Amino acid sequence: MAKNVQEEVKRLAVLTSGGDASGMNAAIRAVVRWGITLGYEVYGVRRGYKGLVEDDIVRMEYKSVSNTVHTGGTLLRTSRYPEFSEVENAKKGAENLLKRGINNLIVIGGDGSFRGAKLLHDETQLNVVTIPGTIDNDMAYTEYTIGYDTACNTVLDAILKLRDTITSHDRIMILEVMGRESGNIALNSAVAGGAEYVLVPEMPVDVDKIAASVKKGFDEKGKTSTIIILAEGKAHLKDELIEKISKATNRTVNHMSLSYMQRGGNPTMADRVLGAKLGAHAVELIDEGQSGRAVGIKGQNVFDVTIAAALDGKKGFDEKLYRIAETISK
Ligand code: F6P
Repeated sequence: MAKNVQEEVKRLAVLTSGGDASGMNAAIRAVVRWGITLGYEVYGVRRGYKGLVEDDIVRMEYKSVSNTVHTGGTLLRTSRYPEFSEVENAKKGAENLLKRGINNLIVIGGDGSFRGAKLLHDETQLNVVTIPGTIDNDMAYTEYTIGYDTACNTVLDAILKLRDTITSHDRIMILEVMGRESGNIALNSAVAGGAEYVLVPEMPVDVDKIAASVKKGFDEKGKTSTIIILAEGKAHLKDELIEKISKATNRTVNHMSLSYMQRGGNPTMADRVLGAKLGAHAVELIDEGQSGRAVGIKGQNVFDVTIAAALDGKKGFDEKLYRIAETISK
C-alpha cells in the first residue's frame, strides 16, 4: 500500500571560507557525492560567509563536481569576511539556508572560519560541522589540515629550482614562506629540502650568530651556497638578515617570497585523500543529527571533537625536528 505521507527531504549545504587551500575541491566533491548517496539534496554556498549573507546559494548535483578532484583553489570560491563575527550577520546567513529548508551546513576553512561556524551552531537553528582547510596546519586538535601537504611540496619545488641558480652563482638565498604564526611549513620543507637554516616564530633567532655560522659554512665546511627558509612569522628579520649576512660573507644575498604560489596548484595525493576522508565523515555526522562538531585526522584515523575544542590551544611545535634541521644541514 502506498504511503500517504510525504517523506521529509534532507538537505545540506557546504561552503569554503578564508584562504583557499589545495584539496578543498576534493573535500567539496566528497561532501556532495556522499551527501547525495545518503539521500540529501546538496547546495553550495559561494564565496564563503559573505555569499551566505548575500544569499549566493546554488544546487549541487553529482556532476557539479566532475573533474575537480585534482584541481587547486576552491570551486565554490571563498572570501575573508570578518563581519560574520556579528551575530546579526550569522542569523541573516542562517535564514538564507533555513528559508530553503536547508538546516545542515558543512564549513571548510581555518580557525576564523571555525569561529563563524561556532557562532552559527550557538546562535541559530543550523546543524554545523567543520572541516579543517588551511595551508598553515596551525590547528592544535588535528594532525593535518587540507592544503598543507601541497603547500610544502610547492616550497620543495622552489628550493630545488633556487638551488640550481644559487649553486651556479655561489650565492645565499632567503626564501620566505607562508604560515602566519606557525613555522610548520617552513620547518618541514626546510628539512625535506635540505635548507641550511630555518627561522620560525616558535624559536628565538640570533641574526649575528646566523651570519657568523653562514660565513663558517663557506670558510670551513666547503659550502658554496646557502638556503635560508624564513617563515612568515619571522619575516620582519629579512632586511637585518640580508645586511648582516652579506657583510659577514661578502656574497650576494637574494630574497624571494613564495607568497601566494604556495596556495595554488594541483593538490598532492595526501591532500586529495584527506579531503575525501574528512568530507565523508562530516556528512556522516550531519546524517547522525550532530552539530557543533569538527572533524580531524590523526595518523590514518578520522575523528571529531566539538568546534569549541578544535579552537582551543596552540599547535605543538616539533622542537626535535628543529634540532635535527639545525644539526644536519648547516
Ligand atoms: O591562512 C592562509 C594564509 O595563506 C596565510 O599563510 C597567510 O598569512 C594568509 O593566508 C594570507 O591571507 P590573504 O589571502 O588574506 O592575503
